[in-house]
Amino acid sequence: MSIAIRTAKKNDIPLVLDLLYELGRPKPKKDSDLDLFRNLVKKQISDSDKTILVAEADDVNIVGMISMIVLPRLNKRGPEIYVPELVVTKKYQNQGIGTLLMKACISFGKKRNCHNIRLESGLFREEAHKFYKKLGFESTSYSFSKNFEN
Ligand SMILES: CC(C)(COP(=O)(O)OP(=O)(O)OC[C@H]1O[C@@H](n2cnc3c(N)ncnc32)[C@H](O)[C@@H]1OP(=O)(O)O)[C@@H](O)C(=O)NCCC(=O)NCCS
Repeated sequence: MSIAIRTAKKNDIPLVLDLLYELGRPKPKKDSDLDLFRNLVKKQISDSDKTILVAEADDVNIVGMISMIVLPRLNKRGPEIYVPELVVTKKYQNQGIGTLLMKACISFGKKRNCHNIRLESGLFREEAHKFYKKLGFESTSYSFSKNFEN
């Protein structure tokens, strides 16, 4: 199997959305939700401070994606790279594709003078935690969030 990591294109939007649903993100409940989700991916692809990389297997199937945002930080040497989403489809997991995506993301961040990479991972994602630790990530903080919709 050959794996190529490349920047996502507009044609990839439906497959990127499928990967996000697999990650556990909400599925559209109505047409307007789908339009919104498509537009958000489109915007992320065309924004110079954000990007989405996809993993393409054997020149055909998109089997994984990573999204990233360059975030300015105060009193640090440079911005940081924040990773809101990373997923490899079940059938292709544990074959090195997540590692390739993360390495490409780190290269992107270094080219943009980022000083570190940061992400959040749900407490239940124990396999993902092993993956991050294997790649040299350290667990350094708690994450707090508050839902405004309830
Ligand atoms: C986490 C994830 C992105 C890693 O990508 P991947 O291509 O499966 O990982 P790689 O093959 O590059 O790395 C394998 C390592 O990751 C861990 N790992 C990840 N998924 C695993 C799985 N399903 N089974 C076993 N180990 C797994 C192991 O530590 C493994 O190392 P080992 O082979 O020495 O045991 C991918 O498994 C995934 O999408 N999981 C579901 C969604 C998710 O949790 N995303 C992260 C959100 S924070």
